Amino acid sequence: MVSLVHAILLVILLFSVLANGITRHYEFNVVLKTTTHLCSSKPIVTVNGRYPGPTLYAREGDNVLVNVVNKVNYNVTIHWHGVRQLRTGWADGPAYITQCPIQPGQSYLYNFTLTGQRGTLWYHAHILWLRVTLHGAIVIKPKPKVSYPFPKPYKEVVVILGEWWKADTEAVINQAMQTGQAPNVSDAHTINGHPGPLSACNSLQDGFKLHVKSGKTYLLRIINAALNEDLFFKIAGHKLTIVEVDAIYTKPFTTDTILITPGQTTNTLLTANKSTGRYLITASPFMDTMIIAVDNKTATATVHYDGSVATTSSITTTKIPQRNATPIATSFSNSLRSLNSREFPVNVPLEIDHSLLFTIGLGVNPCATCINGSRVVAAINNISFVMPSTSSLLQAHFFNLSRVFTTDFPGKPPLAFNYTGTGPRNLRTLTGTRLYRLRYNSTVQLVLQDTGIIAPESHPIHLHGFNFFVVGMGVGNYNPKASPSAFNLVDPIERNTVGVPSGGWAVLRFRADNPGVWFLHCHFEVHTTWGLKMAFVVDDGNGPNESILPPPADLPHC
Ligand code: C2O
Repeated sequence: MVSLVHAILLVILLFSVLANGITRHYEFNVVLKTTTHLCSSKPIVTVNGRYPGPTLYAREGDNVLVNVVNKVNYNVTIHWHGVRQLRTGWADGPAYITQCPIQPGQSYLYNFTLTGQRGTLWYHAHILWLRVTLHGAIVIKPKPKVSYPFPKPYKEVVVILGEWWKADTEAVINQAMQTGQAPNVSDAHTINGHPGPLSACNSLQDGFKLHVKSGKTYLLRIINAALNEDLFFKIAGHKLTIVEVDAIYTKPFTTDTILITPGQTTNTLLTANKSTGRYLITASPFMDTMIIAVDNKTATATVHYDGSVATTSSITTTKIPQRNATPIATSFSNSLRSLNSREFPVNVPLEIDHSLLFTIGLGVNPCATCINGSRVVAAINNISFVMPSTSSLLQAHFFNLSRVFTTDFPGKPPLAFNYTGTGPRNLRTLTGTRLYRLRYNSTVQLVLQDTGIIAPESHPIHLHGFNFFVVGMGVGNYNPKASPSAFNLVDPIERNTVGVPSGGWAVLRFRADNPGVWFLHCHFEVHTTWGLKMAFVVDDGNGPNESILPPPADLPHC
């Protein structure tokens, strides 16, 4: 009898694991680590002393617990970029938006469930500029017994692209905020932490090596963890087949160059179809506004076929795209389509409750103490967002604290002008902690319109708490009469970060089915610092699973 009961319990346990996943526990110690193998030797803020940080592995449906212990002298928070955090905004991570920071010596247990998501996402610090070195991959495998909608790769490899400054990055941005001018660009790009063999800033290990066996197919999980630069990614002599972006399966397509903005992830299949040799991997900047400074150094790594001797076989190189190769960028963006299969259908909202137009861009405000008597600011609808300091926005919303924020963020620009022209230079940017309120389950169409007030520039816009469909994209000014006729409402790409073209626009649609306070911002860290950010507050619904869960007991205090 006992054994029968045991057997039944075992079967029940097995079924619940298959249906609901398991609990995974991670310990993240935020510690300083002195690096010696890059351009400069300096202490950097890391998870467990590792740069890039350790990969967080889980399966769809798993409950993830990450105990973050702050052992550095900065306030710290960690964001799980792209994780939807259904009803668990307390675990989202942006400082002063969903939580107060974890102070030195304190800890906080992030507790969230990976519902309906599988693919590559990533985590990063979400305070100051600490994410420059505090970041790592999140790999979410499909549920047990579920396969990928593409041939099973022989091996999977995480490829994290980053930026490296010789100087302390907190000093870099602090100085820029004092002078009112743009911060220094980075000194190197990196691939899995290394600038690579062709870099002036050589690393001891010759850079990252991807060892391959001829004839096998590899899944590369590519993440752009750079602070301020869109990147092109290429592998000499090889084509790449895109199968997923931002943890959403795509219709597979083949390309020789990938465009990836900060915040985005891209999964690609690489077939090792050569018999031998070494092939260069490159990550180089994309910035088609020539007056904006970029770090023009290309990070390199190598694909190394088994049996090739490093000292004797030369490296096959590739043509690096120009920094202003707009056609390559546009053609990549236009090739992205959601898979839209029976298992992974596309549900674009067709009826719209909130139709919003947000201008995004830079501006200039007077500043008596700054170098030119003015400072660069960034804004959405002419409002440069100011973070609260006494409480997070989510706490203020949940506990009904007054005077932390208002809900009068404008749904359209205060002044209509030729947005992508030079614009009214006297348009004084306002400041405020203003949110836009959405009813539970309402639908949103959001037009993001770049402005050319200082100069047009592309912006990787990231929304927390949701994925959105990118139903349209174009250059110039969005035209509410003509532009919608070209919308893709059938299989548009779904993602969490969109690169709005320089001097152009993108149209997003999403359903506000996640109650809480959700950050929207440019994933160029310098633009976020300058104020290109706002937040949506989504009301609770009336149903049983439609309200924010109560905050955990260890939620940090401000
Ligand atoms: Cu990856 Cu709010 O950020």
